[in-house]
Amino acid sequence: GWTMANFRETARDAIRAQVGTGRVICGLSGGVDSSVAAALIHEAIGDQLVCIFVDHGLLRAGEADEVVRVFRDRFNIRLVHRDASDLFFAALEGVTDPEVKRKTIGRLFIEVFEEEAKNLGGADFLAQGTLYPDVIESVSARGGPSAVIKSHHNVGGLPDRMRMKLVEPLRELFKDEVRELGRELGLPETIVGRHPFPGPGLAIRIPGPVDREKVRILQKADAIYLEEIRNAGLYDAIWQAFVALLPVRSVGVMGDGRTYDFACALRAVTSTDGMTADVYPFDMSFLTRVAGRIVNEVRGINRVTYDITSKPPGTIEWE
Ligand code: XMP
Repeated sequence: GWTMANFRETARDAIRAQVGTGRVICGLSGGVDSSVAAALIHEAIGDQLVCIFVDHGLLRAGEADEVVRVFRDRFNIRLVHRDASDLFFAALEGVTDPEVKRKTIGRLFIEVFEEEAKNLGGADFLAQGTLYPDVIESVSARGGPSAVIKSHHNVGGLPDRMRMKLVEPLRELFKDEVRELGRELGLPETIVGRHPFPGPGLAIRIPGPVDREKVRILQKADAIYLEEIRNAGLYDAIWQAFVALLPVRSVGVMGDGRTYDFACALRAVTSTDGMTADVYPFDMSFLTRVAGRIVNEVRGINRVTYDITSKPPGTIEWE
């Protein structure tokens, strides 16, 4: 019968057959799909694979380090870690429109990726963590209404001029199968079981202009929220959970003083595909504990709200 162990072997052979002695580059984002694709391809062809991790500085706290630790240090995968955060923050300066943010980040991402690919002397193949639902969606829904609402970006949007053949070993798999394969390959649960995370990262969780300081504040609040969710054993029951830093300041009291700091919104939803979503029904005691920690531990935030909007009519993200 069909097992993940069979799939792993068959996929490994197919990658070797396709690639031969050619060179493959793979964009790593820290997400499940590109991580599993990279680990599988590395198992097949070893150092013929080089991964490029374009770090836009908009990941969650600690996630960029984790990518490097897991792939370079643990798996011994050749990895170019390009800290391009200066470029991204400069390009995002003063940008408030969510779609302009996405386009700015998407464009720059591709530019930096291409530059690094060129520095490596190019390659014969480009690896992508395309899944079966992506294959279906790109056939049936390209240019459809959802594409207009949000221009999602990933490495799939690389321009034709890169002219590399694609290696897409996950094309026949659904998300839960990719997770199973990732576990089979020995990837840590923190990567394999990770909630979906948008390509433009924290930039779309900061309505209004984005800067380093706001990202730093948001990362701290978000890390506390996720730590509490994990400690409460709720992480796997939730589809996505995150903090949005709101462009609103309000008055608070702290010790003898008055504060005038940002408000934030906690978001947590259940979903099966991200198309519709329900609010996660936390206990009030959980929410007040998180709020207390954020206000006490994160300088710059003095008010915490819980977003109780379902999708539709809301969206999961704030932008
Ligand atoms: P919304 O906010 O539209 O999100 O309800 C649905 C799902 O899509 C993710 N999302 C994105 N993913 N680039 C991405 O790669 C994007 O620009 C983007 N916008 C939203 C969101 O996190 C949720 O899982």
